[in-house]
Amino acid sequence: MADKVRSLAWADGSLHLIDQTKLPAVFEVIECRRWDEVADAIRTMKVRGAPAIGAAAAFGVVLGAMEHRGDAPLEFTAAMETVIRELAGTRPTAVNLFWALERMEKAFKAQEDKPVAEIVEALRLEAEAIAEEDVKACWAIGSNGAALISKGSGVLTICNAGALATVDYGTALGVIRAAFAQGTEFHVYAAETRPFLQGARLTAWELVQEGIPAALITDNMAGWLMQQGKVQLVVVGADRIAANGDTANKIGTYTFAVLAHHHGIPFYVAAPLSTIDLNLASGREIPIEERAAEEVTHMLGQRIAPEGIGVYNPAFDVTPAELITGIITEAGIIEPPYGENLAKAFQKD
Ligand code: MRU
Repeated sequence: MADKVRSLAWADGSLHLIDQTKLPAVFEVIECRRWDEVADAIRTMKVRGAPAIGAAAAFGVVLGAMEHRGDAPLEFTAAMETVIRELAGTRPTAVNLFWALERMEKAFKAQEDKPVAEIVEALRLEAEAIAEEDVKACWAIGSNGAALISKGSGVLTICNAGALATVDYGTALGVIRAAFAQGTEFHVYAAETRPFLQGARLTAWELVQEGIPAALITDNMAGWLMQQGKVQLVVVGADRIAANGDTANKIGTYTFAVLAHHHGIPFYVAAPLSTIDLNLASGREIPIEERAAEEVTHMLGQRIAPEGIGVYNPAFDVTPAELITGIITEAGIIEPPYGENLAKAFQKD
């Protein structure tokens, strides 16, 4: 990361975020002083990536409490409920958002009868804890997964599961960072990730910052690369992992998993335990976000498709558990049978 700046940080009573819609052309940090600015930043993907939106929303709750600190107790509670509900409505797929908001709600309920200043402080501490735990989890994911990358291998990833998508360091990119730091020589293929181009704009930017040898490819090149023997490992992030291991991640991930299976290439998901949703039995229950048609009909503000064409723009897909070799978490690498082993990971927690 540039000057080791985090994707988000709390400073001087506001949430500072790298505006990810402007990268790589412009590195700009925006300051959210109100909770609805945080909600807007999540909705418009100024901040994105499952763990990052969870942490951002947690700080959004702190801002909500600060804005309503003058309210009478009943109004204050009602305002907090609205803030949490509205933040939960910003994006539907990444479970980290709901996980973080639940933690904030619990922290609020535990302090409800205290003076408002104490509530605000307790919420700030909880949001800081969520952010710090995410950084620790990412480093542990990196160290648990690094050995999967062997000397001379080609590693394919999609979207951005890097420092920008988390509070720092990254999940799939955390594994890549850790292997690189250990001195392993390998080559990354970053898929551009149409339509929002998180791979081309964000992952490529992070890889260049770190000096990790990498090539940017378009999404439809993956199969050919595999057939040519250029890919020995696929590692991706996750937005929500169901109890049976089915994994929602950026659209295009499923295609890579099918291709990897066909070519006998290991396919790993890297994610913190906060991305695992044991309440959902399978991936069929994961809500898949659909985004605006303009993301497909336009590129960088320029129309590339004719007026009048219909558009379908699902932002995520679900990779069935049977295509996943292992799930790299802060608690170790979880292997099949996922139904049993994911539940066990939480018992240890
Ligand atoms: O739509 P986005 O950019 O928020 O989607 C992000 C992804 O799909 C990431 O792979 C996932 O959130 C994991 S981030 C560590």
